[in-house]
Amino acid sequence: MLSVAVVGSGPSGVYTTQALLQQSLVADVRVHVLDRLPTPYGLVRYGVAPDHEKIKSLQNGLRAVLEDERVTFVGNVGVGGVQGVSPARLAELYHAVVYCVGASADRPLAVPGESLPGSYSATRFVSWYSAHPDIGADPFALDARSAVVIGVGNVAVDVTRILARGADELRTTDVPRAALSALEASRVRDVHIVGRRGPSQARFTTKELRELGALPGARVVVDPAELALDPAYAAPDGLPGAPPLPAVVRRNLAVLRGWSAGRAEAVAGAAGDVPSGAPGGSQAARRIRLRFFLRPVELLEHAGRVAGVRFARTAPDGAGGVRDTGAYEDVEAQLVLRAVGYRGVELPGLPFDPARGTVPHAVGRVLRDGVPSPGEYVAGWIKRGPTGVIGSNRSCAKETVTSLLEDAAALTRRTAADDPLAVLRAWGLRPVEWAGWLSIERAEAELGRSLGRGPVKIPDWPGLLAAARDTDR
Ligand SMILES: Cc1cc2nc3c(=O)[nH]c(=O)nc-3n(C[C@H](O)[C@H](O)[C@H](O)COP(=O)(O)OP(=O)(O)OC[C@H]3O[C@@H](n4cnc5c(N)ncnc54)[C@H](O)[C@@H]3O)c2cc1C
Ligand SMILES: NC(=O)c1ccc[n+]([C@@H]2O[C@H](COP(=O)([O-])OP(=O)(O)OC[C@H]3O[C@@H](n4cnc5c(N)ncnc54)[C@H](OP(=O)(O)O)[C@@H]3O)[C@@H](O)[C@H]2O)c1
Repeated sequence: MLSVAVVGSGPSGVYTTQALLQQSLVADVRVHVLDRLPTPYGLVRYGVAPDHEKIKSLQNGLRAVLEDERVTFVGNVGVGGVQGVSPARLAELYHAVVYCVGASADRPLAVPGESLPGSYSATRFVSWYSAHPDIGADPFALDARSAVVIGVGNVAVDVTRILARGADELRTTDVPRAALSALEASRVRDVHIVGRRGPSQARFTTKELRELGALPGARVVVDPAELALDPAYAAPDGLPGAPPLPAVVRRNLAVLRGWSAGRAEAVAGAAGDVPSGAPGGSQAARRIRLRFFLRPVELLEHAGRVAGVRFARTAPDGAGGVRDTGAYEDVEAQLVLRAVGYRGVELPGLPFDPARGTVPHAVGRVLRDGVPSPGEYVAGWIKRGPTGVIGSNRSCAKETVTSLLEDAAALTRRTAADDPLAVLRAWGLRPVEWAGWLSIERAEAELGRSLGRGPVKIPDWPGLLAAARDTDR
């Protein structure tokens, strides 16, 4: 029998578990899936946007794996933290441990003014509307008229869409109460989404980009002159002597071209054509302005709060990068969200590469001082870095499990606890098992019913733990 702990119940943890269940090399395998939260699914629950219901429904597939009789969900057990269990002690309980802890921190911009009130990471904003219990219910009052989102990846598009979408459209989702109320009262009218390079280097995917143009009550404004700065934009069939543009870039450029053609006149008359101080609510017009070749250099302050962003105007350097032109542009904003990527967090007791924000590994085997550490593996964002969609974690997990199975004979010669859960409890931990999670689900459904909505997420630790303990619900 092979006894494995998978740390993290996001996509990489669940796909690792699935690969362990589906293999045929080891006849009997038992998997404990640990998570510091009492809830499973990682960023599928706490990152994927609430209005992306189809992607959210991937939870059903993850759920089927976690409900397999060979699998035990062990929520509310952190690994490496002050109140959790250390990697060294965990290694005593299982033949192998696979770390799938994701990359939960945000990346800073490292520009003056970044910590002004009104300036936040998109990570924090996402966690807020997703009801992550570490965030708390009320940090965002959306009294800003103009918001700047820095970065042009899919997270930037997600937060832009949530800011631009009317609260009425989010009422049918599981958005927590405080976030829905704040979105209802939102005074945001302009959302500027800003890339430091050109449209052909933007990281968003076309489906996500198109969605911005389909939001009721919002319109997209693109400046054709700014697009034309990108040599690839001017030559959609490819630049002479250069490799063909990737399909996603060609599709993105086509969408942007359409918007710029249809909306060109809106740019000229943009300032002031939405009344400032217009009432909140989904009926009011909102404007999404896609901007390129603007590198943030400073967040501007007024009366102790963020009042805008100063950008350096950039131009293509001919090699996919940009150079500063010496010109600057200030964009007014009372809310600034930096969506410039996530970052792995060092887990005490586990090796960490601070430059990459990942755990050093060789084909999924954790490296300690450059040497594979017996029984320790890694998968997902903490292995590869914070890029890739949910499906990317499946092949990543398979690669790690292949390494683990190659080591299986040696691993099963190590000692493992007969009842790791009993040991964890004896160490003072209070795991939330699958029944506890089901109880949270029921509590969220009840809360939603009481509000005339579908399930509504519980946004705080006491609420989640109380619901988890009330398994008679
Ligand atoms: C805002 C956002 C939206 C996204 N939307 C989409 C989308 O719409 N479609 C798509 O395909 N992809 C999307 N992605 C990408 C996708 O979410 C990731 O590819 C995927 O979640 C990474 O999986 P993971 O398991 O490595 O990490 P995570 O999903 O982050 O899971 C890590 C898990 O580990 C747990 N954990 C962390 N530290 C510890 C610890 N010390 N002890 C125990 N447990 C711990 C966490 O609680 C979490 O449950 C999105 C990403 C973000 C950031
Ligand atoms: N719907 C979906 O499928 C979905 C939704 C959300 C997330 N995801 C996935 O999750 C992963 C993470 O997404 P992400 O948006 O966090 O990261 P990302 O795709 O890496 O995008 C980060 C953006 O930030 C910019 N940036 C980085 N540092 C900057 C700086 N100092 N100043 C200005 N801009 C800066 C980058 O520009 P440069 O390119 O110039 O560095 C890039 O535009 C991606 O793989 C994404 O596809 C998918």
